[in-house]
Amino acid sequence: MKFFVRTYGCQMNVADSNEMGRHLKDRGLALTENPDEASIMLVNTCTVRHHAEERAFSEIGRLKKWKAQMPGRKIVLTGCAAERTKEHIEDRFPYIDLVVGAKSIVDFPVMVEKLLDRRATDDELDYAVPATGDTVSSFVTIMRGCNYSCTYCIVPSVRGREIYQPRETVLGEVRDRVREGVREITLLGQTVNSYHDRSRSVGSRGRDTDFSDLLEAVAGIDGVERIRFMSPHPYYMTDRVIESMARVPQVCEALHMPVQSGSNSMLKKMARNYSREEYLRLIGKLRAAMPEMTISTDIIVGFPGETDADFGETLSLIEEAQLDWGFIFKYSQRDGTPAADLPCFSTELIEQRHQECLAVSDRIALDKRSKLAGTLQEILVEDDSYGRTRGNYKVHLTGDIRPGETVMARITDTERPTLEGSVE
Ligand code: 5AD
Ligand code: SF4
Repeated sequence: MKFFVRTYGCQMNVADSNEMGRHLKDRGLALTENPDEASIMLVNTCTVRHHAEERAFSEIGRLKKWKAQMPGRKIVLTGCAAERTKEHIEDRFPYIDLVVGAKSIVDFPVMVEKLLDRRATDDELDYAVPATGDTVSSFVTIMRGCNYSCTYCIVPSVRGREIYQPRETVLGEVRDRVREGVREITLLGQTVNSYHDRSRSVGSRGRDTDFSDLLEAVAGIDGVERIRFMSPHPYYMTDRVIESMARVPQVCEALHMPVQSGSNSMLKKMARNYSREEYLRLIGKLRAAMPEMTISTDIIVGFPGETDADFGETLSLIEEAQLDWGFIFKYSQRDGTPAADLPCFSTELIEQRHQECLAVSDRIALDKRSKLAGTLQEILVEDDSYGRTRGNYKVHLTGDIRPGETVMARITDTERPTLEGSVE
C-alpha cells in the first residue's frame, strides 16, 4: 500500500510529515510521489496566514474526486489548520477519514493504527516495498508549541504551550538518523533555543540541560557532520548559545532569526520582547563570533498601525543588519489572535509595502551572495545535482558527485538565489 504526503507551511510541518511518514513506513507502507498510485493521502495543513489555509482547503476539496476514483482510499488531515477548524471539518468535508490536529501529532501512530486496521481487509490495494525520504539532511523536532503570544500569530493557539523532548530522546533520534545515512541534522522548534530539559541536570550545580548543552551533545554523536537549527527567538540567543555555536565545529555558519519588524513601536505591538537595538546588537555579536555567518529573517509588512516611518525602520534594519536574505510576509489577520480586532490596512497598501520590502531585501541578498563568486565552498551533496554550502546556499553542481558526500566546489555564478558551482 502506498501513501502520498502533501505538506503546507513551515519546517515544523515538514518534520511532522516526515515523522508521520516514518510511522507509516514502519507499518509497511511505501511513500509515493504520485497521488494516482496512493491509497492514503496525508494532507498536512498550515494556518499561519489565511492564504495558506485556503490553499490546503481547496486541495482537500479536489480530493473528493481522488477518493472516489479507487475504493478503499483514505484521506488523513493533519496540522495547524486541522487543529484550528477540527469542529467544522466533518461538516465541510465529510469524506475525510481521520483528522489529527497539530496538538495530537504525537498520537498519530495510535490514531493511524485504528484507521489502517479498519482497512486491513481491502485487497484492492497494492502492497509495495518501503521507500526512503530525507536521506542526507534531516529534521529532528526538539520542542513543540510556543509560550510566546506574538499578537499576529495563531501558532500558540493551534500548537499549544511548549513541550520539550527529553535530551535522550533527541540524541536517540539523531543516532537513528545518522545510522540511516543522514549527515546533517536540523534541530527544530517554534522557538528552538528556548529548549531545556529539567529531567536531566548537567554540571556541578546540576542545572537543566539547555540549548547550548544540546548542541554540544548532538555534536558528540559520531557521524554528525553538520548541525543547523530553526527558528531561534532573539530573546533566547544568549552569549552561551553564541559561544557554543562558535565553538562546535559542526554548527553551520547560517542562522534564520525572525525579526518581524525594524520599528520599536511595532515590535512592542507585536509583543516580540526585544527592541530594534537589541536585535542589531545580537547581529553584531553573531558576526563577531562567526564572521562567515549568513543571517536571514522573517518580516511582516502592514501590521495594524504600521506608519510610513515604522515601515521605513524595517527597510533600514535590513540594510543596517546586512541580512543575507529574508522572507517577507503580508500581514494576514487571524481569528483568535490578540491582533484580530485591530483595523487592517487596505490590500493595496500592504501589497505596495510588500513589493518595496522585497526590492530592498532582494537587492541586499544579491549583493551579499555575489561576494561568493570565485570562492571555494564546502558543499554537502543532497541529490544528483544539488548541494548546500555551510552558509545554507543551495548550489547546482557540475562534476562527479554522490548524495551524502562532502565536496569542495568553486562558485561560478551567483545571479540567482541557487548558486552555480563546479566541483574541484
Ligand atoms: N501574518 C503574516 N505573517 C505571519 N507570520 C506569522 N503569523 C503571520 C500573520 N498573521 C509569519 C512570521 C513568522 C513566519 C513563520 O510567518 O514572519 O516568522
Ligand atoms: Fe508565533 Fe511568536 Fe511563537 Fe513564533 S514566537 S510561533 S511568531 S507566537
